[in-house]
Amino acid sequence: MKVLGIETTCDETSAAVVEQGPPGEPPRLLAQVVLSQVAEHEPFGGVVPELASRSHVRELTAVIERTLADAGCAPEELDGIAVAARPGLIGALLVGVTTAKALAWSWVKPLLAVHHLEAHLEAPALVGEVVQPPYLGVILSGGHTDLYRVEGPDPETGRESRISLGATLDDAVGEAFDKVASILGLPYPGGPAIERCAKDGDPHAVELPRSLLGPDSLDFSFSGLKTAVLYLWRGQDARGAGPIEGAPRREDICASFQQVVADVLIEKLRRALARTGLSTVVFGGGVTANRTLRSAIEEALGEDVRLVFPPPRFATDNGAMIAVSGLRLLAEGRTSSLDLEPEATP
Ligand code: KG4
Ligand code: ZN
Repeated sequence: MKVLGIETTCDETSAAVVEQGPPGEPPRLLAQVVLSQVAEHEPFGGVVPELASRSHVRELTAVIERTLADAGCAPEELDGIAVAARPGLIGALLVGVTTAKALAWSWVKPLLAVHHLEAHLEAPALVGEVVQPPYLGVILSGGHTDLYRVEGPDPETGRESRISLGATLDDAVGEAFDKVASILGLPYPGGPAIERCAKDGDPHAVELPRSLLGPDSLDFSFSGLKTAVLYLWRGQDARGAGPIEGAPRREDICASFQQVVADVLIEKLRRALARTGLSTVVFGGGVTANRTLRSAIEEALGEDVRLVFPPPRFATDNGAMIAVSGLRLLAEGRTSSLDLEPEATP
């Protein structure tokens, strides 16, 4: 079985063909094209939705053509067209969904509506890490910071379900990386830039707030941390109360910021594991490409639980994870009709 996956939820235009071998074998990536719009959004320090939609309109057809050519796959050989249908920027989603519907109709193939966050959690399957629910699903991306309990298929509906355990109350973790980078005059996207800059910094040099929202909460808040960096960089103390002597080095702020994010994530993961009794954690989303965060989490929790990270190339948005999710939906018989509409919300 071969499925074409289409991803246009935000600022990557991507397509991939993934093949499912015999039962029990992991899915195999035949080809993938990822076109990043970073250069277009960089002058604005963040994704401009209108520009993202226009760029998808311009590029998507060529991206799909090249993917099929690289995979050596004719449209007749496909068993389904999978598309990320939610959540995301609505204009960007409309481009992918409309294209997928047109292809499904003209090639007479099943249409598969994929949930982008579920797909992030299924990405490790691309390197053979197939995880059976229940597990703790953790999304760390530019738009989401979510903890889910992912349950196995419901005996009646056959569907997997996700129960939300916690989420960010303000900025998403990737958004915090992007905004802090912008404050510090580092390039967009901020995650990789902060990680690079932090390599020359001391993670304990600068005192920054760790917002845990009380002893029991599984929610997150990163806006106070971002504001503290802003004050520090302006040469004030972390509460903005007055100037401090000798402004901190940018490298030290980056390293300390990353350390705080790691500490908060580890504490929330500990709480979620204790509350649910789960013993496997699956991570997804662009922020999980951060090797410093990964190592800190592995060091803190790796001995007690199984930690499954996507390989960095499948951590950020990509068509392959959409195709993997699509293969599962096809196997479960969960195809969509051609009146499918995208949804911005999870
Ligand atoms: O999952 P993703 O590609 O798109 C969304 O669905 O949001 O995640 C993009 C986010 C951006 O905020 C970016 O700064 C962050 O992932 N990111 C990183 C790293 N690479 C990408 N954050 C921290 N460290 C990284 N190495
Ligand atoms: Zn994503």
